[in-house]
Amino acid sequence: MPAAPGTEIALRIGDDMHLHLRDGAALHAVLPHTAAQFQRAIVMPNLKPPVTTVVEAAAYRERILAARPSESPFEPLMTLYLTPATTAATIEKAHASEFVHAVKFYPAGATTNSDAGVVNLASMYSTLEAMEKFDLPLLVHGEVVDANVDVFDRERVFLDRELEPLTRRFPQLRVVFEHITTHEATDFVAGAHARVAATITAHHLLMNRNAIFAGGVRPHHYCLPVLKREEHRLRLLAAATSGNPKFFAGTDSAPHARHTKENACGCAGIYTAHAALELYAEAFDSVDALDKLEAFVAEFGARFYRLPLNTSRLRLRKEAVAVPQSFSMGDDALVPMRAGGALTWRMVR
Ligand code: NCD
Ligand code: ZN
Repeated sequence: MPAAPGTEIALRIGDDMHLHLRDGAALHAVLPHTAAQFQRAIVMPNLKPPVTTVVEAAAYRERILAARPSESPFEPLMTLYLTPATTAATIEKAHASEFVHAVKFYPAGATTNSDAGVVNLASMYSTLEAMEKFDLPLLVHGEVVDANVDVFDRERVFLDRELEPLTRRFPQLRVVFEHITTHEATDFVAGAHARVAATITAHHLLMNRNAIFAGGVRPHHYCLPVLKREEHRLRLLAAATSGNPKFFAGTDSAPHARHTKENACGCAGIYTAHAALELYAEAFDSVDALDKLEAFVAEFGARFYRLPLNTSRLRLRKEAVAVPQSFSMGDDALVPMRAGGALTWRMVR
């Protein structure tokens, strides 16, 4: 039975292990949302131009620290963007830095700002060997870009064609299969060796692909990997609430200006940072698994990244909260998940 209205739960503050913060005015608009809910976040490097070197990551990190609300202890965990020019020497420098925690692989053309990505992983073996040697995790956007593959099958086909062979070729490499959306992915990760993990977003736990077409095209429910059938959502929910440490929270909160989403060719990305924890709580509550929430947001990811567990705690109360129609983001508007609707949980510090 889902929790009764007014129920309160306390949990260790957690980490968002997959987050898009952007830069400039967008960074200033979105960072306070994440900093209010999470102690740390793995920050995606898909800026324009992408963050490809330790020097660029250090500069981006400084801009994030400067944009933090005053007194905020939020800590950005930086990543590098894997390009054909990423060498073993870059990996060694990243390893030696205290603040680069992973390298992100985007198949070129797969998603927002992925043009600088890698076409063929097989051409990157010496870089991947260095990552294995220096124990730097590879974060994978797991979708093929092959136009002949159905959009809804791109994750499953990537798994067979690329990811499974990769984990066999580099058995010591730590890999995060990011924002998984299918039961093929949950089964693969559960059955793979212990260095393979996955992040799961709140929106993939709460919505299936009908949400993209509810009464008309809903651009704010379009993200990549695209939402899948209900049977996949249920399997993701089962994985997230299973207590298996290979599955942990990564929101993939991806801010885009309203006019770029409500567009003849709308951008991919759902913004959830305003209410990520409340949305995860709603998903876990729906299957009576609130007791599994703390480990999913605050333990399993930290352990995978070999970080100390956070110590402060926060509280959530089951209570309806209205979500604004939009937030301002510089001169633009940002439409969040549930805009104009309600959350079922409220964060109380
Ligand atoms: C992300 C973005 O907007 O940067 N978009 C998305 O739909 N998830 C990129 C990504 O993680 O694929
Ligand atoms: Zn992402």
